Amino acid sequence: MATKPAEVTKQDELMKKLGYSQKGIEYFKKKLNFKELPSADVKGEQLGHCGDYMSVSLKVDDNGIITDAVFEALGCAGACISGSSITVMIKGKTLEEAKKLDENDIIKHLGALPQNKVECAQLAIKALRDAIEKYEEQK
Ligand code: FES
Repeated sequence: MATKPAEVTKQDELMKKLGYSQKGIEYFKKKLNFKELPSADVKGEQLGHCGDYMSVSLKVDDNGIITDAVFEALGCAGACISGSSITVMIKGKTLEEAKKLDENDIIKHLGALPQNKVECAQLAIKALRDAIEKYEEQK
């Protein structure tokens, strides 16, 4: 059976024009990993200079491996896409590996991010680092 091609909306076209990658656009449409995680071991939070907010919640096993990660954001498309990216990227990684990630890794993961949205990726990184710090403090 042939698969139906994904519907390309006006929003998709606009996002593409603004410099978002196809992967980023898909994450934004799905709101990938944008949810609460009631069983989370820790929740990191960060407020950006722009006034936008992001949290990253983690589930970590006894070996320090991140087994689940979600985010919540009150912010722009760049923030939501970065939140989706970081939560995808860190699943299965150790806390030590996750700590080393930065906004350039998010951009690499996505393929592209508009230049003026790099700070949004930094917001996701800071929320992640806050979560890791809190987790290490409570251990
Ligand atoms: S403009 Fe504030 S996080 Fe994107």
